[in-house]
Amino acid sequence: MRITRRCFGHIPKMLDFYSQFNPSPLSIKQFIDFGLSACERKSFTFLRKELPVRLANIMQEIHLLPEHLLRMPSVGIVNNLYITSFEEIIHFEKLEISDTTLDKFCQALIKIRNRHADVVEVMAKGIIELKESHDVDAHMENNIQYFLDRFFMSRVSIRMLINQHTLLFGGVLNGHSRHVGCIDPSCDVISVIKDAYENARFLCDQYYLASPELVVKSHNDVECGNEIKIVYVPSHLYHILFELFKNSMRAVMEYYGDSDTYPPVEVTIVRGKEDICVKMSDRGGGIPRSYMDQLFKYMYSTAPQPSKSDAHTVPLAGYGYGLPLSRLYARYLHGDLVLLSCEGYGTDAVIYLKALSNEANELLPIFNKTSTKFYRTPLATADWSSSCGGGMATRQLNMGQSNGHRLPNGIGV
Ligand SMILES: Nc1ncnc2c1ncn2[C@@H]1O[C@H](COP(=O)(O)OP(=O)(O)OP(=O)(O)O)[C@@H](O)[C@H]1O
Ligand SMILES: [Mg+2]
Repeated sequence: MRITRRCFGHIPKMLDFYSQFNPSPLSIKQFIDFGLSACERKSFTFLRKELPVRLANIMQEIHLLPEHLLRMPSVGIVNNLYITSFEEIIHFEKLEISDTTLDKFCQALIKIRNRHADVVEVMAKGIIELKESHDVDAHMENNIQYFLDRFFMSRVSIRMLINQHTLLFGGVLNGHSRHVGCIDPSCDVISVIKDAYENARFLCDQYYLASPELVVKSHNDVECGNEIKIVYVPSHLYHILFELFKNSMRAVMEYYGDSDTYPPVEVTIVRGKEDICVKMSDRGGGIPRSYMDQLFKYMYSTAPQPSKSDAHTVPLAGYGYGLPLSRLYARYLHGDLVLLSCEGYGTDAVIYLKALSNEANELLPIFNKTSTKFYRTPLATADWSSSCGGGMATRQLNMGQSNGHRLPNGIGV
């Protein structure tokens, strides 16, 4: 049974209808311009179409997931959440615009945001259910990776739209006067770095009773000597940096074992004409090159999975979502996250951000023939010989970073 066929009445038809439209990506500049002129009616009119379009585009892809995954209870839960929210939004489709409608819309958005708060964890649970009950072949794994990147990116974008509307019109200020919704037009990159470092350091100290120091360098090639500021969503930048700090700190602490001193984590920020780069360099022993392809996969981590009985474990800690989700946050506004490593020495993680707000456009998944074909096309047979007799493709990361100390994930942006 295809789980989405569980939905009743006119919903399947509406899903077909809305998924014919491509999502409309906005630039951070458009978000800001719109936020400054803040017209609730305009926002309502845009969102009552755009939200169902974004929801429908990704919901159609859920149908295309491997059958085994669709049958997992947690995936069913996620699917039902999406159906409920889609239904609630299209209720506003033809409503007359009045103050009452606008109020109800705002309330509905808040309800939807709360309903979907744990979707990443529940989806991750669905993947674990699958791994525990089935053999996952390379084709299925490839499909799941492709889907999760798109699904989580869609979620980031939908939350962004909801956050903007509710912050601008919901009467609850986020406490930052210069912010436009959740965007800081003058986001001080160094202070976000320091914030993320302090919080990761707190966790590191708890687990290891010590932590590496932070060294920050910056170079502004555009406005010499000035602080580097960016129009950005600080919570997204914080999320990425916090994940990278946790990884670097863990690597350093594990690599230096019982040593009394630890080399610092160095962060270099550079403002160029087009890009802002934030490079985090650690001396945590690096990552073997043969594992680099696995780093951004949702199904792999070098840590043993926290046991189910480990009730105090923070959700997702050690499930290996840190890097793939961070890269999505960077890519959401056409940035990127890249890791380079020298095994035996350390790792550089480079975050690329668009320096110009009109170039920082949302990157959104589109449901169309290309995406549909992706799920249906079997993996091509290799046309290059493998260096390791084919073993690498199916090898699980298990590099024996032994004690399983995990620095918890923070995915609730
Ligand atoms: N700076 C680094 N140095 C050494 N290894 C790293 C570094 N960053 C990441 N890795 C390796 O990449 C793996 C995947 O990282 P990722 O952040 O995605 O997941 P995780 O840290 O295992 O779990 P989570 O972040 O979800 O708690 C890590 O388990 C670790 O082995
Ligand atoms: Mg991590």
